[in-house]
Amino acid sequence: MLVDGKSYRTIWPNADGSVSIIDQTRLPHSFEVVTLHAMPEAAHAIKTMVVRGAPLIGATAAYGMALAMQSDPSDASLATAYDTLHATRPTAVNLHWALDDARTRLSALPPAERAASAWARAAEVCDEDVALCEAIGDNGLSLIQAAAAKKKPGETVNILTHCNAGWLATVDWGTSHAPIFKAYDAGIPVHVWVDETRPRNQGASLSCWELGRHGVPHTLVVDNAGGHLMQRGQVDLCIVGTDRTVANGDVCNKIGTYLKALAAAAHKVPFYVALPGPTIDWTLNDGFAIPIEERPESEVTEMWGKTPEGALTRVRITPETTPAANPAFDVTPAALVTALITERGICSASTEGLAGLYPEHASA
Ligand code: MRU
Repeated sequence: MLVDGKSYRTIWPNADGSVSIIDQTRLPHSFEVVTLHAMPEAAHAIKTMVVRGAPLIGATAAYGMALAMQSDPSDASLATAYDTLHATRPTAVNLHWALDDARTRLSALPPAERAASAWARAAEVCDEDVALCEAIGDNGLSLIQAAAAKKKPGETVNILTHCNAGWLATVDWGTSHAPIFKAYDAGIPVHVWVDETRPRNQGASLSCWELGRHGVPHTLVVDNAGGHLMQRGQVDLCIVGTDRTVANGDVCNKIGTYLKALAAAAHKVPFYVALPGPTIDWTLNDGFAIPIEERPESEVTEMWGKTPEGALTRVRITPETTPAANPAFDVTPAALVTALITERGICSASTEGLAGLYPEHASA
């Protein structure tokens, strides 16, 4: 991603043994880099959503393990780091994938070798994520090209997306945004309807920011507008990300994704889900088995933004005594998903489709 002409990833190690991240709670108003010096800071950044998005959560956890091994490579420290990072957010499976991967590798090594191995592996996880996301972009591009081919020459392809599954949710490129960036770069006239994505407004604050930086035409809509736009033929396709996809093709993504999938099915608008392999949970065969994160009520009862004077502030939007529920994700059944876009190609959201692309995981 390019920010003010400078190329960035969302996370990177520093020569002094610290790790830098972009503070996503300050965007779009302020681009601020935060430095993590110890494992608990990495855990706190994930929990408080300074970093968020399934692949980036996994990458931050990998660096969190490296920070832990750097300060204390003992078995006890390894176990504490695993448990602390594991407890941060329950839904995105990349977190568990990255932590299991690190624990398996590190516990097989003598303590003196653990820090170097953890740093190297975290860098590898990041490089792999960038490559996976770019490949998702190349594969998803064909779907946007196909949508463009059905239109008159030069006519705009309208794409609706929910939450932020772009640069900021990954190490670079994004999942749902990668095909959009590729299509824009290839000269296809694209326009993105960005769902605001209440309660934390990842669409309004993060997707709009990065689409704008890349120059992709986009329009912010409230979460409830998608059905109306689809009813009027103003959406050619939807592309969203996923925090966990299970072996039968059910997907779990930011709350509100399911409603968009229902509207898309009603209006015969293709509904695509973009995902890298590490987002697939091969141990589950039913999306309803995925734990859904419940987040604080205050995210619903309050909003934050910038005052005309330029200060970032929170305001309450509900009566003081009104309780709020805040399930952060929902499950879209495979039957509502037109296809999955992965780094290995495009497949149906089904056991057969996923097993065809990932035969090493197919059950006998
Ligand atoms: O709660 P968040 O902001 O971490 O949720 C992120 C999403 O729902 C994304 O769509 C998902 O992680 C896919 S990211 C490539």
